[in-house]
Amino acid sequence: LYKIMPLHMINNVSVPETFDLPNRPSLAEKNADEALFDEALALIKEKNALLIAHYYTSPTMQRLCEAAGGFIGDSLEMARRGRDSDKQLIAVAGVRFMGETAKILSPEKDIIMPNLSAECSLDLCCNVDDLRRAKQEHPEATVVAYANTSAAVKAEADWIVTSSLAVELGKYLTKLGKPILWVPDRHLGSYIANQSDCDVYCWPGRCIVHDAFEANALEKKQKEHPEAKVLVHPEAPAAVVERADYVGSTSQILSYAKSSPCKEFIIATERNIFYKLTCACPEKNFIEAPVASTKGHCISCANCPWMELNSLKSLIEALNHPKEHSLSVDENTRVKAMKPLEKMLSFSADLKAGKITL
Ligand code: 13P
Ligand code: SF4
Repeated sequence: LYKIMPLHMINNVSVPETFDLPNRPSLAEKNADEALFDEALALIKEKNALLIAHYYTSPTMQRLCEAAGGFIGDSLEMARRGRDSDKQLIAVAGVRFMGETAKILSPEKDIIMPNLSAECSLDLCCNVDDLRRAKQEHPEATVVAYANTSAAVKAEADWIVTSSLAVELGKYLTKLGKPILWVPDRHLGSYIANQSDCDVYCWPGRCIVHDAFEANALEKKQKEHPEAKVLVHPEAPAAVVERADYVGSTSQILSYAKSSPCKEFIIATERNIFYKLTCACPEKNFIEAPVASTKGHCISCANCPWMELNSLKSLIEALNHPKEHSLSVDENTRVKAMKPLEKMLSFSADLKAGKITL
């Protein structure tokens, strides 16, 4: 059972109360985007580019990625694939930290993004000056940064981790007797502390999409669908995680749904994952977990507003004008950020190979 553990919350840091959200594309813009499919596909081939997309991008972008022989995955797999590809030009459809991670690991490659202002609320919750101060206040702690952070924050970390590895790394560091200074997601920080019993100084950041999943409404939904398994991303609040049958990254949720004999699932993560879920399991029923709303309006409606900036129109623009859409990371920052990122990738490989036992 999930126990709500007392955390050492870090309070003296500046975390935005609200975020400036980009405008959502209209239905007409979405339809126009669909009509650009063949043009975008031809351009990817002509430029010999690799398209890497996250599961939260639009179904049109994911279909394009499949048709172009690209790669769709969670943030860990995207990082790995970008590093291992022999293509010179890599287009990352996702949010900024995903593009930066690709650039940090592959500085010699041209990394472009459809829209360079595709932020992430977690990234915006952690500024590097606050982190430097917190490090001085907790010199005994190992700094573990979620992948959803800027290159500058990554450069200050001892470890980077994605949601698919976070608990394992927590257990590993607990065995070494190390407390963790965790940035920036409060819910994932609390999940790591619970699952690995480690001492966590936790940043108070949040993802506006996952933070909105609502436990009481979920309980009601479960009563309406008593057979359904509840699959939850660990960026959701503890009370929602507590109701989960399974907690995991986007890829892990997908694998669980594929291999489970169950026919019905309630999904608490960004809604564009339904594209892959329904393609992979057409015979199964996927239901959206309820989100909180104010006066009948939800803020994100389980749809990441920054991921939506990845239109086919902007991808075509990026492929035609790569300089204007190119990711750059200052070399000093890049070299520092590469170390904890490479540690994450070898930790993941060692775990898989059974070289690390927890
Ligand atoms: P994953 O690592 O599960 O893909 O999550 C990335 C993300 O941004 C979740 O909101
Ligand atoms: Fe960031 Fe949340 Fe969007 Fe993921 S869903 S990219 S964590 S804002």
